[in-house]
Amino acid sequence: MGVMKLLLSITIVCLLWSGFSTIDASNTEGMCSSSACNCDSYGGLTCNCADQVEELILTSDGDHPLSSFTHWIIIRNCPSVILMNSSLTRMSNLRSIEFIDINNLTLFTESFELSPKTMRTSVTIRSSNIQVLPSYTFRGDMEAISFENVQINLINAFAFTNLAGTETLRLEDCTFDIIEEQAFKKFDVNYLHIIRGTLGSEVPSRAINDLEVLTTFRLDGVKMGIVKSSAFVIKKPKTVSIQNCVIESLEAEAFDIAATGGVHIKNNTFKNLVTGSFLGIRADRGNNGIKSESYYDITFTNNTLNNFEEGSVMFNRDDFQPIIDNVIINRTCDCTYLKTWMNNILNYTIYPRFYRSLSTRAVRKMNFDAIEERTFMCIDDSTNYLRFDEFEATNCTLSSSIMYLLLAAVGLIVILAFVIGIIIWYCRENGGQDRWMSVPTSAPDVVSQKNGVIGRNGSTQSAPVDSRITMVVPDGRLYRETEFHVIVEKAEPLTTEL
Ligand SMILES: *[C@@H]1O[C@H](CO)[C@@H](O)[C@H](O)[C@H]1NC(C)=O
Ligand SMILES: *[C@@H]1O[C@H](CO)[C@@H](O)[C@H](O)[C@H]1NC(C)=O
Ligand SMILES: *[C@@H]1O[C@H](CO)[C@@H](O)[C@H](O)[C@H]1NC(C)=O
Ligand SMILES: *[C@@H]1O[C@H](CO)[C@@H](O)[C@H](O)[C@H]1NC(C)=O
Ligand SMILES: *[C@@H]1O[C@H](CO)[C@@H](O)[C@H](O)[C@H]1NC(C)=O
Ligand SMILES: *[C@@H]1O[C@H](CO)[C@@H](O)[C@H](O)[C@H]1NC(C)=O
Repeated sequence: MGVMKLLLSITIVCLLWSGFSTIDASNTEGMCSSSACNCDSYGGLTCNCADQVEELILTSDGDHPLSSFTHWIIIRNCPSVILMNSSLTRMSNLRSIEFIDINNLTLFTESFELSPKTMRTSVTIRSSNIQVLPSYTFRGDMEAISFENVQINLINAFAFTNLAGTETLRLEDCTFDIIEEQAFKKFDVNYLHIIRGTLGSEVPSRAINDLEVLTTFRLDGVKMGIVKSSAFVIKKPKTVSIQNCVIESLEAEAFDIAATGGVHIKNNTFKNLVTGSFLGIRADRGNNGIKSESYYDITFTNNTLNNFEEGSVMFNRDDFQPIIDNVIINRTCDCTYLKTWMNNILNYTIYPRFYRSLSTRAVRKMNFDAIEERTFMCIDDSTNYLRFDEFEATNCTLSSSIMYLLLAAVGLIVILAFVIGIIIWYCRENGGQDRWMSVPTSAPDVVSQKNGVIGRNGSTQSAPVDSRITMVVPDGRLYRETEFHVIVEKAEPLTTEL
């Protein structure tokens, strides 16, 4: 027995030794002997061009083939790297491959084709440029695909497809110039996160087609041009979150999403919305035919709208309980438009036109909807955001309109008075010939009385001299003298003795 044990352990040691020696052998040949690269004894391949190597070619054949024992690959800091097609297919232990700071990464169809034996491999590309991401670049069991700060000029149709067991697809700070239809086609993933970056001037119809996103679909801070109808066809997400995005234009049903949970749309800028832009978002209630009676939440908060049509912010009322708040309308507040804007956004009158299977439930719901003015905001002259009700209270209320009415009335009266004045003046001017000169109506008190003697220049100091006596004298030159007969009448009981 002891001899057997000894033999066995010797055999094991030999086997182990031979195993090490194969890895050792692979350390000094193939890709490992390339000047920019080195290998370690755990199956790691690290390449760093550092300005020495112009172009690094990763291939499974040729002068410097990749070893099939490779466990992980890190390529960094190279001006140009070419990953030939199917160069990874023989690496049954490949766990991760990373490209960092590659100025020109050239990929072919099936460049990322993995061995069917691999499990849970991750692909990371960071701070790199790719001219074309060709069709069927990927194939196999990829646990995670992560692009960070990657610029891609063109993503061909079916670039992302044939993925299995994918946990995460994360595109962060990426710039995609042109995305072809069906660039992302039919695979399952738990998390699809597109964070910041831009998806180009147009996201075509079915750019993301038929993906089952089982946990979260997130668009966060992404810039997009025109998003065509059914650009995002996504099934089963438990959470959908579209936030902080700036979108030029959303066509009808741009998001074709069958959610199994809540949908949150917040702090986005939608420069153009058409009727039914959000009507493609619905609930996936499974195939059992039993419709759950509960609604999912859909929140639409802190979004900015520039142009929008009637019914552009309608949601599927059969499936969702919409919570709408802080709708910011990026236009100057205008009393005459507030009602129209609210109506365009929240009026469901045209809903049945788009949603044929309108159920009684949805109809019931529609009738309950009250349009709250506090929900909406517009911009005043000094570019502050004002809620509709605040603006209306100060600018468009009944009291202020009454004030306007009063002002108008006063104006009218002033004008009337003016006109009447003019008429009177005109009449007077015309009747100048038989004008009457007014005679003083009050008898001038030129007479004073002293001890019953009536006389002029009475000795009393207070004798009044009235300058108001007006005399109408014919032309003085015709008459030498003029005689005045002044009759002083006094009808007063005399108190003095005569
Ligand atoms: C890819 O591999 C196929 C064979 O599998 C070959 O015919 C084709 O030329 C390769 N393409 C490139 C770009 O190397
Ligand atoms: C990138 O590398 C490929 C292959 O060497 C080459 O054809 C292409 O012109 C390069 N692109 C740029 C922008 O240098
Ligand atoms: C809202 O989105 C804009 C545009 O992406 C961003 O600049 C801003 O920080 C976001 N605000 C909040 C509170 O997240
Ligand atoms: C919306 O914006 C306001 C201020 O602009 C902020 O106080 C509030 O928290 C935001 N709400 C959400 C849900 O982001
Ligand atoms: C609001 O509109 C103005 C002018 O149309 C534009 O310059 C500004 O960027 C818009 N703001 C937002 C948040 O879209
Ligand atoms: C909705 O719009 C229709 C016409 O499009 C209008 O007749 C109706 O009064 C509006 N409803 C509300 C609540 O404003």
